[in-house]
Amino acid sequence: MGEADEAFVQAIEHRPKLSVAEDEGIPLIDLSPLSFSNDANTKNIDDLVVEIGNACKKWGFFQVINHGVPLEKRQKVEDAMRKFFAQPLEEKRKVRKDEKKAVGYYDNEHTKNVRDWKEVFDFVVEKRILMAASHEPEDKEVPETLNQWPDYPPELRESCEEYAREVEKLAYKLMELIALSLGLPASRFSSFFEDPTRFVRLNHYPPCPAPHLALGVGRHKDPSALTILAQDDVGGLEVKRKSDGEWVRIKPTPDAYIINVGDILQVWSNDVYESVEHRVMVKSEKERFSIPFFLSPPHYTMVRPLDELTSEQNPAKYRAYNLGKFLATRRQSNFKKLDVENIQISHFKVQELANELDGALSINKK
Ligand code: OGA
Ligand code: NI
Repeated sequence: MGEADEAFVQAIEHRPKLSVAEDEGIPLIDLSPLSFSNDANTKNIDDLVVEIGNACKKWGFFQVINHGVPLEKRQKVEDAMRKFFAQPLEEKRKVRKDEKKAVGYYDNEHTKNVRDWKEVFDFVVEKRILMAASHEPEDKEVPETLNQWPDYPPELRESCEEYAREVEKLAYKLMELIALSLGLPASRFSSFFEDPTRFVRLNHYPPCPAPHLALGVGRHKDPSALTILAQDDVGGLEVKRKSDGEWVRIKPTPDAYIINVGDILQVWSNDVYESVEHRVMVKSEKERFSIPFFLSPPHYTMVRPLDELTSEQNPAKYRAYNLGKFLATRRQSNFKKLDVENIQISHFKVQELANELDGALSINKK
């Protein structure tokens, strides 16, 4: 990616601290109770639900082991993605994504209007996926997005598809546990995922000559319901600790997955769980690879707090938003530097609306 030009430089307050202590603070949760189905294990499942609920509340992040995803499937994708990214740029750009093609190769992503020090290849699990074309409410166009598989390496496609199917099973198991942890029936979320959006990204963070100025991915929250991330052994993922706002580095655990609450789950749970900011530091001598799997409901979903989690005393904290339009707005800012702030779920907060109205009224009163 060459020199660290100005587009990559983070504002001073967002630059990484190179000396931050690694913290094993995010809980490591053993999912082995899920692999036995006898009654004696019910108690373990209850404990697991409590553990998951606590992790979602305290951190919005946790790691899982004994998750049932075969290691060999993950290794196949990791091998294939290394081969893909090792190619010259012209080759990778043959499957480049742009404003029209929503998935493929990309090396020019911006998070919060600063360029990320990474290149990515993404795909959807469906052969095709429908996404809203633009954020304009009147624009009803929902074009098909086709995956763009490269010729090389030939095994990339199959290895990605097989891997995604396994991770998806894990995602649904976790959504059941999360539903239970919210006091809901295990299957509460299943209707949202009858027509799911499963978006997978292969991330390559090349060595960076200025790791103190740039970030692999700038601070952001995931717009998904749930994210399941595989990171290699290099490390660099940082999570904003809810208790004090400090950035905490997540130490890689072999064959573990990092799970995080996304924006949609935050809204569904009416803020019981929060989607937490995270970012990726880069290194000057080491490249890093990671694979996030983002699970979301279909684009036409109106995302709003679940009725069971709201009441007169605890009213809905969000107005409903259309997921496809939200993502289309976000996508636009991924391609170019904009002068406006990226769209966030906080823009749909009922309180914000009330404050805006108050503001408007007090202006009128003056
Ligand atoms: C992301 C992300 C983290 C990582 O792609 O949304 O947060 O470790 N990635 O690559
Ligand atoms: Ni993320």
